[in-house]
Amino acid sequence: MRRSRILGFGSYLPANRVTNEELAKRVDTSDEWITQRTGIMARHVAAEGETTSMLATKAAERALADAGVKAEDIDLIVLATATPDYTFPATATQVQAALGITKGVAFDVAAVCSGFVFALTTADKFLASGSHKRALVIGAETFSRILDWEDRTTCVLFGDGAGAVVLEAFEAAGTNEDVGILTTHLRSDGRHREKLYVDGGPSTTGTAGHLRMEGKEVFKHAVGMITDVITDAYAATGYNSSTIDWFVPHQANRRIITASAEKLGISLDKVVLTVQDHGNTSAASIPLALDTAWRDGRLKRGQVVLIEAMGGGFTWGSALFRL
Ligand code: ACO
Repeated sequence: MRRSRILGFGSYLPANRVTNEELAKRVDTSDEWITQRTGIMARHVAAEGETTSMLATKAAERALADAGVKAEDIDLIVLATATPDYTFPATATQVQAALGITKGVAFDVAAVCSGFVFALTTADKFLASGSHKRALVIGAETFSRILDWEDRTTCVLFGDGAGAVVLEAFEAAGTNEDVGILTTHLRSDGRHREKLYVDGGPSTTGTAGHLRMEGKEVFKHAVGMITDVITDAYAATGYNSSTIDWFVPHQANRRIITASAEKLGISLDKVVLTVQDHGNTSAASIPLALDTAWRDGRLKRGQVVLIEAMGGGFTWGSALFRL
């Protein structure tokens, strides 16, 4: 059967790193409060004029270099973002142009913090169908632009960044011992909009708006939703918390991550945690964490990796792959 496999990883964080102490000079908060409740120690903020497509392009270039693939050999770009450069065209098309790619197709997907899992799933289905051969899957965000910097309950949690993977289609045996993406599971439930949303948009206010969140409500739903889609991934493949090698969750909050791992019986030494370094970068967080663990040698070829995310909508999803 045709599957897709990951050839390379890349990521990019803007140069401006803002620590909790620095934030505490702008809003009524403290390093102790942020660290204890979220695990976040710093976030990166894009410079004036530095857009989501610029961060995405840098991450994509690094993923292409890591994969040893030329930009011209990419025929599909799926970019997940909730903070596009413009209302249209899709940010993916701007990355396509910046990389000098003139063939194939590029488009965005909107699933907020679950965006990377949605984009990876979409690209995997295109490649498995035989319609396309090599894809760039990117998560990129400039959440700093939609934060209300006066609201201490949200502005301390998020950051900017981008991450990317190169996916390639190949003929696999069709067993769960194959390399490549073995299963994906996506869910959404639009009844939860008001718990995590942006209070603006082209068709409502005509402005970009600001992020609004009922943090406790999000927390309450997150662990259950994450557990459901991971259980689905285990059921579809026969893998379980003991037989996976790495758990690379959406990096929103250390407490959500450890609570999910504990509920699922995933040992904490299998969990890749990078939220301390960049905060919640929404769709960028999983590919940022994957790239970190790939570059520092934790992720190795042949290993089984489980990713999951949950975010605005609500949307949630999981994917399980062998490297
Ligand atoms: N600094 C200092 N104090 C603060 C801050 C801050 N930045 N923010 C809130 N507080 C205060 C509150 O005003 C409140 O004070 P009070 O008791 O005098 O009223 C107190 O701290 C406790 O506030 P809570 O909201 O009850 O704090 P909680 O323990 O629930 O933690 C948090 C808040 C961290 C947002 C938590 O609810 C959470 O992690 N939720 C999940 C949200 C999340 O991760 N969303 C990401 C997007 S979704 C996703 O990616 C999965």
